Amino acid sequence: MDRELTLELVRVTEVAALAASQWMGRGRKNEADGAATNAMRAMFDTVAINGTVVIGEGEMDEAPMLYIGERLGNALSPEVDVAVDPLEGTNILAKGLPNALSVVAIADRGNLLHAPDMYMQKIAVGPRAAGKIHIDDPIEKTLEIVARANDKRISDCTVMILDRPRHQGIIEAVRNAGARVRLIGDGDVGSAIYTAIPETGIDLCVGIGGAPEGVIAAAALKCLGGEMQARLWPEDDKERARCAQMGIQDISKILYLDDMVKGNDAIFAATGVTDGELLKGVRMLGRDMAETHSLVMRNKNKTIRYIKAIHRLSYKASMVFGSGGQMSFE
Ligand code: FBP
Repeated sequence: MDRELTLELVRVTEVAALAASQWMGRGRKNEADGAATNAMRAMFDTVAINGTVVIGEGEMDEAPMLYIGERLGNALSPEVDVAVDPLEGTNILAKGLPNALSVVAIADRGNLLHAPDMYMQKIAVGPRAAGKIHIDDPIEKTLEIVARANDKRISDCTVMILDRPRHQGIIEAVRNAGARVRLIGDGDVGSAIYTAIPETGIDLCVGIGGAPEGVIAAAALKCLGGEMQARLWPEDDKERARCAQMGIQDISKILYLDDMVKGNDAIFAATGVTDGELLKGVRMLGRDMAETHSLVMRNKNKTIRYIKAIHRLSYKASMVFGSGGQMSFE
């Protein structure tokens, strides 16, 4: 893949974040997600790739665009797999809460796991604990390993976990082991990434979240030199049948980073929609001007770039606001 694609991917997440942010705090998550999806799709049309969506907004019959199997880009090559989450954290954006992101990952064709839309058990750590943890270790042992690797006491470690009843046991176990817990309402792509960026103060991310989000987070952690292990978590026979249909023989198999993102070339980009641990959200600087903060990285060279951009919205109105060029609530 051409390295110039890194900047192209930032354009894609920027425009999706700009579109989603127009719906921030308005309590309308579907409209926000739709706006981000439309904007991301429109920008992808300008990118020189021959992409296929492998992680997207759903199957063709349930998503009008960015559906699994959809072709993206305006070139014959490079042939790439594309994983998108135009708005990661639809509920948090609708409520105006922190940590909503727009995210995209690409890799050479065939290199991203085609994860079914179901749950996945996940554990993620940063580079210093990479290679030392195991998804089936008791949490007490994992915390000891992570604390030692990050040169902290267990009581200094913070574990980020989705606030769900299914996580009650693990939350209690982490607290009993002496570590601190940061519960989040949504957004476990972000929490996996934070483990690999020391300034966020997050040492470990554990729990069950979306499998598609897991693959996107795996692409980011690969670029960051962190580690993620995962296991699909089907909830019923229909989901087990779906796995079989997708050619997944052993559902309980542990998925390592190289199973989720093969090869050594992947690019990941994220733009903050609302303020988060790592990226500021979209700021409206005036009627026609907005600021975005993005992160883009490539596994091949391990460069991590933070990009602050100022946008004149009138120059990209049809992408940000749709074909009418203005917000539908205006
Ligand atoms: P959406 O942006 O699609 O709403 O997903 C947010 C999210 O919190 C993910 O980050 C996470 O993987 C998944 O939902 C968890 O699913 P659930 O809300 O069903 O527990």
